[in-house]
This record gives sequence, structure tokens and C-alpha cells, in this order.
Amino acid sequence: MKTHPQEPSRLELAQLPTPTVELKNLAKQVGIERVLLKRDDMTGLEISGNKVRKLEYVVADAVARGADTLVTNGGFQSNHCRATAAVGARLGLRVRMILRSVDADPEWDGNLFLDQLFGAEVSYHAPDVYRAELDNIVEQAMQEERSAGRTPYFFPVGASVPFGSWGYIRCVAELVEQLGRETPVDIYCATSSGGTQVGLMLGRALLGCDNWRVLGVPVSDSVAYFHKYLRELERATVQQFSLDLNPEATPIDLIDGFIGDGYAIPYPEAVETIRLLGRAEGIVLDPSYTSKGMTGMLAVLQDQPSERLPVYIHTGGSFGLFARRDLIAK
Ligand SMILES: Cc1ncc(COP(=O)(O)O)c(C=O)c1O
Repeated sequence: MKTHPQEPSRLELAQLPTPTVELKNLAKQVGIERVLLKRDDMTGLEISGNKVRKLEYVVADAVARGADTLVTNGGFQSNHCRATAAVGARLGLRVRMILRSVDADPEWDGNLFLDQLFGAEVSYHAPDVYRAELDNIVEQAMQEERSAGRTPYFFPVGASVPFGSWGYIRCVAELVEQLGRETPVDIYCATSSGGTQVGLMLGRALLGCDNWRVLGVPVSDSVAYFHKYLRELERATVQQFSLDLNPEATPIDLIDGFIGDGYAIPYPEAVETIRLLGRAEGIVLDPSYTSKGMTGMLAVLQDQPSERLPVYIHTGGSFGLFARRDLIAK
């Protein structure tokens, strides 16, 4: 089923639609009326989380262009890279990943363990080198692949490119089916490379959900950065697919104050949220994204009770928690 006439072709990689469930125990424990969870952690096992929704479109484009190798980048516990490695294995595509890592030989745990299991070729780069030299590192990897007679296709961290935006336009279409357009819904998500929030914003606008809101909780960069960056990705998507939409008219709602000391650095309230979801609902959040996003949403719901229906997008990342067992130690 197409969600919109301009929707590009997609590979069916994810288990869709994902269920939307009510978290009654959590609501009772934190003293809020209601909260729903869209279980995008259940888009699959190995290719679980939000990335697979984006990869359905991005990798479809790669395959259509005759690529035999996927090249991408991310942090050393990148959920995006792990999902790409699994997709590559499933489709018989080579995967080469460029990872940012403080440690030149990090422990194979969590996502990194799975990257190795799925046969991806991994290279590690110190954070300062990665920051300063990423374009050159990517170009070199692409050149090496071409010289070896392969056809590489590059997409950046998080697959947050215009093709990827369609993943979360589709997610809004599922929510419309599951909740109906009439209910005033507030969709919350963790925001980092931005494609999830931009897809949700576009889906809301394209699918006529005028009384819905999309609220992102930044987990990596400042609110000022995201106001600019999300708009740029939105504009690029509108332009690339000739969407009949004025991006400047789409609200960008961001909840500030839940990054902590920085990207992927957990803090006590977010760790407590991981425990809370584990014990109250038997649900696993991750230390870098979903725990911070959920902490932000719960704070808003507790401070400003509202009649609107809150829905948190569980964007996955559960394997990342295994690499941070220390946080949950007894
Ligand atoms: C588990 C998880 N949740 C949320 C996000 C953030 O989504 P996005 O990068 O689309 O902003 C990511 C990736 O960055 C992620 O891995």
C-alpha cells in the first residue's frame, strides 16, 4: 500500500505495522492519565528499531542503482550500522562501516558484536579524526570499493536522507489507521540524526493530521541546531520528491533539557527510566536514545497534564543496553 502518490519504491524489510500498546502500569506509577507506545523496537530482531523503516527506502534506491556494497558511518555502538549490517547480510550486499570510537580496538559487545556476526567490514576512527576527516574517509572507502570492481552506495549516519524520511511518513500512516485522525495525538520521539522526527513531521502534514503534534527530544545536539537542521532535511525531502507542501509552515517542536552531559552519556534519571520501563512493563529501553526521550516525555506529561493522547515511538536500540550492563548493576 502506498502512503502517498509520491512515495518511492520500498523493500519490505520490517515487520509492519508495529503494534501500538497502552502502558497502564507505567501511567499509574508516574501519575499520568494515559500513555501509548508505538513498538518500533519490534520492526524485527536483528534489524529492529527505527532505522529499518528508513533503510526500506534507502536500500531500495541503492539496489535500483545496481549497488553491491553499502557504505555507512556512525558511533561504535550505532544501531543504524547494525541494522545496515543485518540488511546487507539478508540481501547479499557487502557492508562497509566507518565507526567513531575512542578505543582503537573496542570490545565486541552489543551492536558491535552483531556487526561482526553479520560479516560487516568495520574500521574505527578516533573522534577528532572522524569529525575532521569524515568526508575524506568516506571518499577513500568508496574509491577502494570501486577499485576492487564493486559498486558502492553511501548513506550517512542514521540514514537521515530524503529517501529515509519516507520511513516515518509510513509510520504516521500506521498511526492514523490505529488511532484515527480525529483524536488529538502528541507523538514523542528521541531525536539525533533527525530522520525520524522529519518523517513524522512530513507524515503529519501530508496525511492531514492537523490536530496532531510531533515533539522531538534532542539527545545529541542543541535545540538551536535541530531547528535549523530538521528544517533543512525537511526542505530537501520536499524538493527531492516534489511534495505539495510548504516546509516553513510545519511546526518544529523540541523538548529541551534531556541530553545530559552529551550524546550517549547516560545520566541517573534516564537510567531510572530504563529500570522503570523494565520493571513496570517488561520493556527494554536503550541508554543513548529511548531512555532520554522517554524521560523528557514523562517530565512534560507530569508537569503539564493534557487531554491530548501521548504516543511515544520506541525507536529500538535495545542491544546497546548490553554494552552498558554496568548502568543497571545491582
Ligand atoms: C534507538 C534509536 N532511537 C532514536 C534514534 C534517533 O533517531 P534519528 O537518528 O532518526 O533522529 C536513533 C538513532 O540515531 C536510535 O538508534
